[in-house]
Amino acid sequence: MADRRKLAAGNWKMHGVGADLAEVDALAAAVPEPGCEVLLCPPATLIARMAARVAGTAIEVGGQDCHPATAGAHTGDVSAPMLAEAGASHVILGHSERRTDHAETDAGVRVKAEAAMAAGLRAIVCLGETLGEREAGETLSVVGRQLAGSVPSGATAAALVVAYEPVWAIGTGKVPTMDQIAEVHDFLRAELIARFGAEGDGVRLLYGGSVKPSNADEIFAVSNVDGALVGGASLKAADFGAIVTALERAA
Ligand code: PGA
Repeated sequence: MADRRKLAAGNWKMHGVGADLAEVDALAAAVPEPGCEVLLCPPATLIARMAARVAGTAIEVGGQDCHPATAGAHTGDVSAPMLAEAGASHVILGHSERRTDHAETDAGVRVKAEAAMAAGLRAIVCLGETLGEREAGETLSVVGRQLAGSVPSGATAAALVVAYEPVWAIGTGKVPTMDQIAEVHDFLRAELIARFGAEGDGVRLLYGGSVKPSNADEIFAVSNVDGALVGGASLKAADFGAIVTALERAA
């Protein structure tokens, strides 16, 4: 098995102003030398300030989206080189909320991932089925199609992270069974190896959707789960720190 360093990634979504950076100080104090990678993805307005705040700690900072172009007439958008220049090392792409709110497609996510990698960012490509798709028995075909369509051909283990986030588990408190998570993660691993060989074996696979301190240990024990993408529970250092600690135990 490839040596995949575990990754705890927090997605602040559209939460957080300057005062909330105190949570980042608390997180750095709670896990001063984490035995896994720790990443926080705040709104774009906080990236530079958070990056300055975590300088000298092990915490990394990421964006939540980028435009595929480097620069141009695209009001309201932020490019991958801009994120990198602001201090980001990663960018979340194709989150289900963006697929829903902004009609993002697999092909659109793919060109964003290409732009992110060209700018030296690690792309965290998100995918996952809706409840209707799961109930129709389409989970593996949906995530397989999303993986094939959203991940660029040039992806490497260093530049790509894939997050499996069942849409029905995001922000709902509902979590799949561990067998259901294992089924999807094992499938995604096989698909990545089929397409990218050894590089595909090295791509980190995160689970996301209602990860909390109380369920982190059992999720991190699941086959091919290399960490988590955490929304609500990443906003408070006490909760996210406990999730990081659970991941360290699993590492
Ligand atoms: P949640 O969100 O942890 O609040 O369910 C996860 C995500 O959307 O990344």
